[in-house]
Amino acid sequence: MTAMGLQAKVAIVTGATRGIGRAITERFLHEGAQVMAAARDPRRGAQVVADLGGREAGIAFTGCDVSRKPEVEHLVCRTVEEFGRLDIVVNNAGLNHAASFLATTEEDWDRVIGVDLKGTFLLSQAAARTLVRQGQGGSIINLSSVMAVLALGDQVPYCAAKGGVTQLTKSMAIALGRHGIRVNCIGPGPIRTELMEVVVHNEAKKRELLERLPLGRVGTCEEVAAVAAFLASDDASFITGQAIYPDGGRMIQGFPPRLEELP
Ligand SMILES: NC(=O)c1ccc[n+]([C@@H]2O[C@H](COP(=O)([O-])OP(=O)(O)OC[C@H]3O[C@@H](n4cnc5c(N)ncnc54)[C@H](OP(=O)(O)O)[C@@H]3O)[C@@H](O)[C@H]2O)c1
Repeated sequence: MTAMGLQAKVAIVTGATRGIGRAITERFLHEGAQVMAAARDPRRGAQVVADLGGREAGIAFTGCDVSRKPEVEHLVCRTVEEFGRLDIVVNNAGLNHAASFLATTEEDWDRVIGVDLKGTFLLSQAAARTLVRQGQGGSIINLSSVMAVLALGDQVPYCAAKGGVTQLTKSMAIALGRHGIRVNCIGPGPIRTELMEVVVHNEAKKRELLERLPLGRVGTCEEVAAVAAFLASDDASFITGQAIYPDGGRMIQGFPPRLEELP
């Protein structure tokens, strides 16, 4: 990876206030990009901006719920106002909901699909309009998951949303290729973050998780950020419509689901 591989680039990173999004923001700044960090909680947003060096380090924050179109459009406008252009979008904001299928409510479904899938569509479309107008290409990176391909019986909306994100990535890569806009997704395996704590909440779940990982450990946010930095950079200039899985080898192990444990 070239040092300062993102010099003079402007990026939006959603879900930038913690976990993987924060690590991507930090890595992009290190690579010379300017970053508009976005999430819902403005207090955490101000903290991240302060922690990562403030406006003179090239970071600003906009409060945005990615499931709401007017807020997403405002995010793109604010970015261009603040930094003068846009080159890279990372659709990282996401949430999960663990519950038995029979107990999953319409509200659970709408919330997860609204943020993880619809949010990715809304921001990609709003950003792509700006990228096409600028006429200098761009890179859109979506956070999918190994659960786009594997499946779990107790995270049904999440698996559906992430499968959708992977297909959305391929469709947008075709739709935007002629404009020099590359669209790829990253499908992490288990990464130590608050989101993972929601679904791996006891010792038995942790043991089961580690048994399924050939590298024998969960990943770090920085290991996902390294993939995002590569996909955003010109080193990936001929890569579009792809999914890359930083997953510790999870995808090469075809573990059958433990059906007797399903709720
Ligand atoms: N951790 C893993 O093991 C793992 C594995 C595979 C894929 N992923 C994917 O990687 C991405 C990041 O996961 P993470 O583990 O870093 O999550 P996390 O630690 O829970 O952080 C989620 C971030 O998204 C923001 N967010 C949540 N809802 C939002 C909304 N409606 N609009 C805007 N921002 C919103 C949160 O801030 P606010 O609450 O302030 O909005 C926060 O900054 C997700 O798409 C996730 O599905 C994670």
